[in-house]
Amino acid sequence: MSAAEPFAAIRFPTSGWRALVLDQRRLPWAEIVDEVTTWEAMALAIGDMRVRGAPAIGVAAAYGMALAAHSAPPATSAFITHMERAAAGLTATRPTAVNLAWAAGACLSHARSVAPLGPDERAESCLAFARALHEADVASCRRIGELGAALLPDEGTVLTHCNAGALATGGYGTALGLLRAARAMGKRHRVLASETRPYLQGARLTAWELSRDGFDVSIVCDNMIGHLLAKGQIACAVVGADRVARNGDVANKIGTYGLACLARLHDVPLYVAAPLSTVDRDVSDGDAIPIEQRSAREVVELDLPGGSVRIAPDGVGALHPAFDVTPARLVTALVTERGVASPLNDASLAALFGG
Ligand code: MRU
Repeated sequence: MSAAEPFAAIRFPTSGWRALVLDQRRLPWAEIVDEVTTWEAMALAIGDMRVRGAPAIGVAAAYGMALAAHSAPPATSAFITHMERAAAGLTATRPTAVNLAWAAGACLSHARSVAPLGPDERAESCLAFARALHEADVASCRRIGELGAALLPDEGTVLTHCNAGALATGGYGTALGLLRAARAMGKRHRVLASETRPYLQGARLTAWELSRDGFDVSIVCDNMIGHLLAKGQIACAVVGADRVARNGDVANKIGTYGLACLARLHDVPLYVAAPLSTVDRDVSDGDAIPIEQRSAREVVELDLPGGSVRIAPDGVGALHPAFDVTPARLVTALVTERGVASPLNDASLAALFGG
């Protein structure tokens, strides 16, 4: 397959104060890029899932903070108040992925440190900070890929859930970064992308991203996973993470916990790939991780190119916890840019942070 046009979940061109966000709600049917020029519009883009995936929404928040700096009032104290409001507004959009709060907090600290500068200079400095955060995320993904690829078998079938690829990060991907790096090392995998109800990140996004990159990818419905594991048709599973607690418990897309239980029952390794910005050392275990509850509409309706279609009887509602928590003991290894934690627990995770 010939190389497809490069894509980016989010980028900030060198001219003009605007971020370009690839609307992931429209994939795979259309590649629509939205221009985002204010932090409020960026918060909306994160909240309505035009940009999604833990590291990618961290990068989006960083560019949102740069846009806030550009539109801030000139006086130093008013600038700081404005930046605090933007950080809080961006952070409030999605509660589970800690990369969002982490990035907004880092950008706010930077904004405070440059607040005494003139308006243009401090806005440029905030943008440079956001660009550096974006570049660091891509570098982390590449390192995670290198380290994690070594864990994968030379060939066989790898299952992934949700989308933890270039679309979900600054670029390259975490879980899908392992597959990219493994391919570069000469390993050959068939990839199964679980559909990932209700938002279909696997069927729409992972299948789009991997097929355009020439991977052998097939979609499986979420409820096929147990059967395929029981039949010995999956060599290992790789997923990303939205927040990892201090003891190694992993919050990730709803369905990951069920997959982890089934994988353990069938002695199939489960690898979690995530940058250290996804580790929340302020949270002791998975019980303390907030689980985003999204609209029932996303469960009872399917969004299609021509509009949404209701698939449930009128008057019937739905639950929609968007994430679940996988206990650390069910994770074979956590792959970060600073090394691999296996077994995953307080001590192995603390060691990655230098103790
Ligand atoms: O609701 P989403 O699509 O933002 O959820 C994304 C996930 O759960 C991903 O698996 C996770 O963020 C890891 S992305 C590298």
